[in-house]
This record gives sequence, structure tokens and C-alpha cells, in this order.
Amino acid sequence: MWRDTTPLPTFPKLQENLVTDVTIVGAGITGITTAYLLAKEGYKVTLIEAGMILNGTTGHTTAKITSQHGLIYNELLQHFGHEKARLYYEANEEALRFIRSVVTEMEIDCQLSEENAYIYLQAEDEKEQKKMEDEFDAYKQLSIPGVWHDRLTIPVPAVCGISLPNQARFHPLQYLKKLTEELVSLGVQIYEKTTAANLEENEDHVKVFLENSDRHITSKYVVSASHFPFHDPRLYFARMHAERSYAIAIEPETSYEGDMYISIDTPERSLRSVQYGDKNLLIVGGENHKTGQGISTHEHYEKLLTFAGEHFGVKKVYFRWSAQDLITIDKVPFIGPIGGAYNRVFVGTGYGKWGMTTGTVAGRLLTDLIMKRSNPYAELYDPGRFKADPSIKNAIKENLNVVKELITGKVDLSHPKLGDLGTDEGSVVWHEGKRAGAYKDPEGKVHLVDRTCTHLGCEVEWNSGERSWDCPCHGSRYSYDGTVMEGPASEPLKKLDA
Ligand SMILES: Cc1cc2nc3c(=O)[nH]c(=O)nc-3n(C[C@H](O)[C@H](O)[C@H](O)COP(=O)(O)OP(=O)(O)OC[C@H]3O[C@@H](n4cnc5c(N)ncnc54)[C@H](O)[C@@H]3O)c2cc1C
Ligand code: FES
Repeated sequence: MWRDTTPLPTFPKLQENLVTDVTIVGAGITGITTAYLLAKEGYKVTLIEAGMILNGTTGHTTAKITSQHGLIYNELLQHFGHEKARLYYEANEEALRFIRSVVTEMEIDCQLSEENAYIYLQAEDEKEQKKMEDEFDAYKQLSIPGVWHDRLTIPVPAVCGISLPNQARFHPLQYLKKLTEELVSLGVQIYEKTTAANLEENEDHVKVFLENSDRHITSKYVVSASHFPFHDPRLYFARMHAERSYAIAIEPETSYEGDMYISIDTPERSLRSVQYGDKNLLIVGGENHKTGQGISTHEHYEKLLTFAGEHFGVKKVYFRWSAQDLITIDKVPFIGPIGGAYNRVFVGTGYGKWGMTTGTVAGRLLTDLIMKRSNPYAELYDPGRFKADPSIKNAIKENLNVVKELITGKVDLSHPKLGDLGTDEGSVVWHEGKRAGAYKDPEGKVHLVDRTCTHLGCEVEWNSGERSWDCPCHGSRYSYDGTVMEGPASEPLKKLDA
């Protein structure tokens, strides 16, 4: 939706070897914010993007800018203690202030508007109610200025809620487009359709090698801002999982009063408004599921539409979209040195669907790390942190889920034959006595792929809404013809003869 309403500049593909101070891989909120801050400090920065800038998760967010990240503070308090839980809040509040100050200084017209953020409970449930009460108690202990509500003023089922004042929402691409224009005037070299394949670190520099090319970029530092790290020396795939979410932007029958809401119980529902021309649209989000493990995409949209119709009335549906974000096993993002044997490579990932503030935290923190300045949040976000609880428990749970998917994918036998496939339809099919992934395009051409994920061998599943093959294990996504769309996989699915 955001791209449809914002024409963006385009950039060439990198065709030569380059030498620069810092190479940033990935042009979402993390890459662009980091490039902006480093360029302002006088660094020569090169930003490369595999596709088009701002077409990753940042182009498909709901763009609430808030320190209220669902139910988080009680968990942080329990597992990290008072100091770190408070630091988490402060880091995100600082990011919000940073965005505000950039918008004011650069006079960016991006619909930035101050609102209250709410978490709320949809249905009576003793266990969930207790979680809300514990969360509010954590707010009090951490001096977070939340307010308890026994009822909400919006027309959705709600038992109680907690609001956090002075939060915000904006149009993320209008904001980041202006930052990108600023990058160009600061001399940042930006390249699209330029994919980092791997890297090699030497004593005083790092070489980033490009995919399908013998080109490379040599720099003093590299930042992986590629959502899932394009290089994985620390088994990030085993410490994060990918979750898809869906959103629709509708013109409601009843006017929506504003403020931003997200439920804590399932099915998750998220609400915010957005100005589109002279219309005040309502964005309804939710229907989260682990990538590759959901029902059909259309059903998710239908459920959101039914919810919107029941509670707000739907005059017209303007946009619908889905995207995925990465969630770490202890819910705290990974921002800092990428790990392994690398000293000059940094990463920002695992934002748990709160990347507007966290991507901004990452830009500031990674700039400080590269400049060897101290930063109060470095330890909190350090990807090398180790906490026995909940990380280990969640890691075991996640990896058991991976094992289950690995086995399910290999033994599931209920599939149609290739000839039964309709036009513009994809499915796992029986083909020459074996299972294969098939998609028949609108021209009737069949694209057949081996479903074995090139990351670690799980079986990918068809995503009918996005026409992609999604891996249920660690969230890799491939287009209908097997081309990689999202990592950790870096190699395409093997093509088969139809
Ligand atoms: C449906 C949904 C709603 C959300 N709502 C909110 C919200 O209300 N508030 C909030 O704070 N957060 C929200 N989030 C989360 C937020 O949008 C993300 O956390 C954030 O956009 C991630 O930004 P990023 O820069 O890390 O990644 P991206 O925006 O995905 O950028 C990474 C870029 O790297 C590129 N890339 C990948 N691999 C390579 C490679 N090898 N070489 C070169 N380039 C590469 C990709 O093409 C991509 O453009 C939401 C997420 C979803 C899915
Ligand atoms: S993403 Fe890891 S096996 Fe597919």
C-alpha cells in the first residue's frame, strides 16, 4: 500500500568493483537510517539493495511508532531485570523522539501524527487477564506512563486495555523517501538490483561479493540490514522465526476516531487510521502465523474483512497486503556485531514487528559501534548475549517445530496430479511418481520446482495469495519459479521439467 501511494527514486545496478568506507546491505528502515547517520558523520557509504529500495518489510508495515510492543515489559522484567527492561523502553522512546526531530528539521510531510497506543484484551479469559494485569504492574515498576482502561471507546470486543500516551504513526515511505534524497545529496552511492552473496573479512577491510557477478565492494565495515542476515555466522536461523501478518486498508462506514490498537489475544487484531487523498482509511491488521504454516492467504484476508465489516462497516477496500517479520527467541532484537570470526561486520534484525522504532534504534546503535562511541543500549541488543531463560526454552520449542515441519513435509501424501491444476493455481502435485511444486501461470505455462528448501532441506509450501513457495522451518520464500525472495536461503529451488 505504501509504495502504491509514494513514487520513489530509482537507482542503477552496480556494474563495477567499488572501494568505500561502509557497505550497507539492504534498503529498508535499518539500512537507510544507518546510511543517513554515517554519511552525516562524514563516512563514504555505499548502500546496495537486492530489489528496489523500500520494497521489503518496511514497504509493507502498518507503521505505528511506539514503545508499546504488545505484551513485553513484564517478560523483560522477569528475564532481563529492571535495568534492561527500562533501557528497552528508553531506547524506543529515544527512537520516537529521533524520528520526530528528523521530521521537524527536514520538514518532512509524512503524516506524522501523535496518538495513544493501546494493547487490549478481546475476550474474558482469566489467564490472559492476568497477563494484562502483570503487564500494567510492570509499567508501574518501570515508571512507564501507561493508563489502565476497563473499557475502550472503539466498537470492537474489548474486556480491558492499557494505553501509552504520546506515541505516533506516519507514512513510512514519505519519511524514508526524504531520507533517501538526503543520502544522495550527502554523496551516498545507492544501487538497486544488486544482491550481496557473501563476504570475506581481512585484517583491515571486508569484501562483499555480489550474486551472479564477479564484482565486489571493499570497505572498512559492513552492515547487514537485509532483514534476515545475508551472511549467517551465528546460526541466526535457529534463534529467530519468521511470522507473516496481513493487513487491509478500508473506507469504514462509521468514522474511526483515531489512536492505535493491538489485541494481545488471538486472533490478533491491529487498528490504525491513514489519510489517503481526502479519505480517512482504517488499516485492519492481524492473522499472524509462522511463515509456510498458515491456511490459504485468501482466507486470512476474508477474516480481516469480516471483522472490519462487523465492527466498522466496509464502504470500499482500497489495499490489502501481507509481509513477514523475524522474532528472536527472547523477543529482544539482535543489533550489534554479527559474530563468528568477524570484527568489521554488524547486523540489525529480529524486530518482532516493531521495526519503526527498532530499525531507528539500530541505525543509531550501529553508527555508534562503527564510530567506537559508547551507547547505553549496546549490551541489551548484543546478538552475542546469552540468557538461559527464555532463550533455551524457546529455542528448543522453535527447533522442535522445525523438526515437525521437516517430517510432515516429507510424509504428507495427499496431493493432486499435475494435470488437475487450474490456471493461476499452485500446489504440491504428484509428477512422475514424485512430489513436486507446480504453478500454472495465466498463459498456461507450468513452472515445476523441487520443493526441497535450499537452506536446510524442509519442504516449501504454496502461498496462494503471494504466488510464492514459503518454507515453514525458517521462513525462506521463493517465487513461483523458485527464485529466492527472502532468506535465510540464498540458492533458488531446483527447477524440474514439466
Ligand atoms: C504486516 C506487518 C506490520 C508491521 N507493523 C509495524 C508497526 O506498526 N510498527 C512497527 O514498528 N513495525 C511494524 N512492523 C515491523 C517492521 O515493518 C519491520 O520490522 C521493519 O520494516 C524491518 O525493516 P528492515 O530494514 O530490517 O527490513 P526490510 O524493510 O525488509 O529491508 C531489508 C532489505 O534488504 C534487502 N535484501 C535482502 N537480502 C539482500 C541481499 N542479499 N543483498 C542486498 N539486499 C538484500 C531486501 O530486499 C529488503 O529491501 C510490521 C511488520 C509486518 C510484517
Ligand atoms: S528456511 Fe531453513 S530449511 Fe527452509
